[in-house]
Amino acid sequence: MILWFSGTGNSRWVAEELAKKLGDRALPLLEGEKTLTPGEALGWVFPTHSWGPPPVVVDWVRSHDIEGWNEDTYCYMVTTCGDDIGQCVQLWREALGPRQCQAAFSVQMPNSYVCLPGFDVDSSEVEAAKLAAAPARIDAVAQAIAARQATCDVVTGRWTWLKSRVVRPWFAKHGVDDSRFVVDENACTHCGVCVRSCPMHNITLDDRQMPCWHGNCAMCLGCLHRCPARAIDNGKATRSKGRYHHP
Ligand SMILES: Cc1cc2nc3c(=O)[nH]c(=O)nc-3n(C[C@H](O)[C@H](O)[C@H](O)COP(=O)(O)O)c2cc1C
Repeated sequence: MILWFSGTGNSRWVAEELAKKLGDRALPLLEGEKTLTPGEALGWVFPTHSWGPPPVVVDWVRSHDIEGWNEDTYCYMVTTCGDDIGQCVQLWREALGPRQCQAAFSVQMPNSYVCLPGFDVDSSEVEAAKLAAAPARIDAVAQAIAARQATCDVVTGRWTWLKSRVVRPWFAKHGVDDSRFVVDENACTHCGVCVRSCPMHNITLDDRQMPCWHGNCAMCLGCLHRCPARAIDNGKATRSKGRYHHP
């Protein structure tokens, strides 16, 4: 069983490709009941958010039990990232507590973080190169999982302590905040794509058919990137930034 969380579709795609190769099932983390069958592996696929697992995924695993998950379960995590993951694996293992995670992998995919100055989506050349390289990387990850390897095959990058132990706590406390989303009322076509694409079910259309956020955001930026009218921004900073979602 592969559980995925995804904002712009990269992690969902990776989970579904892995499921095809492994003859497994890929399920959205936040929907429905989860039960492991005897001997089944347990995979977690999520984006790296500020050099750690998304806080919503950490909260989920801390507060839920999965029937059938025991000390014999082969458990692995796959995190998609734009560049590098810092200490994401250590943070994930800390979130699991006594439960084992025998293997960890990172898969570089097009970048989705655009909110702070200096961060933008990849150029079209870099985006195309990452998408072209991904299938071979997923093949390698699937082979390691099929062999039940205990391994840590990730790109951590530099200054991992600073990124994961200083910047990330700041992000989890102050950066996961939907109060900065704004809608260009002239551009919005009231199509509801933002509502349907929010994995948190945190967006509704108000009585003027304009999107409203309700304070339960994962900061995945799915709404901003998927809006076909480009009507959604995160403050002023994202106005000039690119948009991306997995094709
Ligand atoms: C809030 C946020 C924080 C991010 N932080 C990182 C990061 O620390 N390192 C990195 O390489 N990519 C980072 N990214 C980029 C995503 O990890 C990457 O684009 C990922 O594949 C998106 O997955 P998704 O399409 O399943 O949401 C971040 C993206 C978001 C939205």
